[in-house]
Amino acid sequence: MNNFALELASSIRSIPDYPKPGIIFRDITTLLGNPRAFRRAVDELVQPYAGLKVGKVAGMEARGFILGGALAHQLSAGFVPIRKKGKLPHETVSIAYSLEYGVDEMEMHVDAVEPGEKVILCDDLIATGGTAVGAVQLLRKLGADVVSACFVIDLPDLGGRKKLEALGVEVRTLVE
Ligand code: PRP
Ligand code: ADE
Repeated sequence: MNNFALELASSIRSIPDYPKPGIIFRDITTLLGNPRAFRRAVDELVQPYAGLKVGKVAGMEARGFILGGALAHQLSAGFVPIRKKGKLPHETVSIAYSLEYGVDEMEMHVDAVEPGEKVILCDDLIATGGTAVGAVQLLRKLGADVVSACFVIDLPDLGGRKKLEALGVEVRTLVE
């Protein structure tokens, strides 16, 4: 890891046995509360996409909203919230998915993206990839061109990155 990755990793708090026994929860609230780490993380996530003419950044509830919103602002793109079931007021498309510690269902508004629009997916962390794969499937259902997915943290032993890459989605992460 380079100096930046080490600094970023040390700004993330690890909580054992949360939310279930055996899970080490990687808590980014400590990164978000550190002005230097937060700015640098957003700058590093944005940098590869400069000049790409991205239409939308899609972020997964809830932590993907914080990073995805910052990315969308930096890229002068729109932001699309991918929400847990029952939170969006207009007509939605939905998909069931599983993640490291459970199962859930997520939704997007049917008119959140245009067919063929370039979209980047953003979240704090990829573990099993269940959440991100579900998000790609939803975006593709609406005809979006999912050009890349970015995360602050990759937990490589859980295989999420490989699943996304197998779907033809480029994956960018900052720390493992
Ligand atoms: C976490 C994280 C990712 C997902 C990754 O969200 O922010 O969205 O899990 O896990 P996976 O790769 O195994 O799917 P969580 O569902 O805990 O929601 P939260 O952000 O609302 O806490
Ligand atoms: N989402 C899935 N696995 C996680 C973990 N270990 N820490 C934080 N968020 C997660």
